[in-house]
Amino acid sequence: MIGRLNHVAIAVQDLAAAVAVYRDTLGAEVTEPLPQPEHGVTVVFITLPNTKIELLEPMGDNSPIAKFLEKNPNGGIHHVCYEVDDILAARDRLKAQGARVLGDGEPKTGAHGKPVLFLHPKDFCGTLTELEQA
Ligand code: CO
Repeated sequence: MIGRLNHVAIAVQDLAAAVAVYRDTLGAEVTEPLPQPEHGVTVVFITLPNTKIELLEPMGDNSPIAKFLEKNPNGGIHHVCYEVDDILAARDRLKAQGARVLGDGEPKTGAHGKPVLFLHPKDFCGTLTELEQA
């Protein structure tokens, strides 16, 4: 059911410092920061030949990545995102198998302007898993 790896997301305390690591140390192409108030994060994308890396910096006090950064003060891998052809069919199939969909279970618009859902890490090998409509 899942298709391509769309991105790996890394949460960081300091986006400018993380951008410097990827752009200057690793020599990657990095986009301008994109504030996403509805998700409580500011995002930067690193475009690699075969996938993307998403750097996430918390925005506001209630950012969904604040707790993660408390536990991982140096930053760390926050989630992986797989593409699916039909996000509602994928959701229904996963729910029927007992997987937990986070939030109200309805897709939200993600950083790429496409519908996304998040799946509970306890059901997916300890990894927060995002599905994005391809
Ligand atoms: Co993501």
